[in-house]
Amino acid sequence: MKSVSSLEQLVKQRPLPKHIGIIMDGNGRWAELRGLPRLEGHREGANRVREVTRCARRLGLQAVTLYAFSMQNWMRPWDEIEGLMALLSEYLLKERHEILDNQIKLNVIGELARLPAEVREPLLELCEASASHTEMVLTLAVSYGSREELVLAARRLAQKVAQGELSAEGIDEVAFEAELSTSGLPEVDMLVRTSGELRISNFLLWQIAYAELVFSSTLWPDFQEAQFLDALAEYQQRERRFGYTSAQLRPPSP
Ligand code: FPP
Repeated sequence: MKSVSSLEQLVKQRPLPKHIGIIMDGNGRWAELRGLPRLEGHREGANRVREVTRCARRLGLQAVTLYAFSMQNWMRPWDEIEGLMALLSEYLLKERHEILDNQIKLNVIGELARLPAEVREPLLELCEASASHTEMVLTLAVSYGSREELVLAARRLAQKVAQGELSAEGIDEVAFEAELSTSGLPEVDMLVRTSGELRISNFLLWQIAYAELVFSSTLWPDFQEAQFLDALAEYQQRERRFGYTSAQLRPPSP
C-alpha cells in the first residue's frame, strides 16, 4: 500500500480537477455503529472537513464546494439541527485563522435567511474578510438545495424579461449560469459522495453536468487524506470526453 505522501506525489503529476464538490455522507451511521449520538459523527466529520480542505489547498485546487446542510436537512430532529448549527459556528471560529492565513476565500451558497444569526453573522463576516483571497475558494452549501437555486434563477430571468432588460431569446446557458449562486466558480469537474450511497440528493444539479462522479464506500468521518487522494486518483483514470469520441481526443500522431 502506498504512503499518503507518495500517493500525493503521484496525484500531483497528473491533471487535477479545478473544482470538486463533496457530499459528505455517513456521519450518522458512523456514530450509530459506535453506539454514539449522531452528533458525534458530525463532529468527527468536521475534522475531516479541515483535513480535506488543507489537502486540496496544498494540491493547488481552485475550488471545493461542501454540502454541509441541505434544504431538506431542516426536516431532521430539532436537536440534530441545533447540534449541526453549533458545529458550524465552532468551525468558523476555529478555522478563521487557517482560512485567512492560507489565502482561502470562504463562500457560502444556500438560503441564508433560515440560518440562526449565530451562524449567519460569523459566516458572512468571514466571507467578507476573505473576499479578496485568490488561492482557493471554499464554498459551504448551507441550507442549500439545487432545485430551489434553479427556480430562483428562472424567476430572476423572468423578472429581467418582464422589465425589458433581457429578451426571451437572450436566455442562453451563459445567462442562466450567471443567475446561479455558483456563478464565477470554475465548472465542477469531480463530485465525490461518501458512504456508499449512489445519489445526488439535490446538490449542484446544473453544475455537475460534465463532472466525473466518484462514489466512495467510506463513511465521511473516516474519509481522510488517503481516501481523498484515492478519489483524485480515480478521477485521473477517467477519460473526460464531453461528447467527443475517444479518437477525437487523442493527439494526432506525428
Ligand atoms: C450527512 O450525513 C451529513 C450531514 C447532513 C452534515 C454534514 C456536516 C458535517 C460534515 C460537519 C459540519 C460541517 C462543517 C462544514 C464544519 P448523515 O447524517 O446523513 O449520515 P447518515 O446517512 O449516516 O445518517
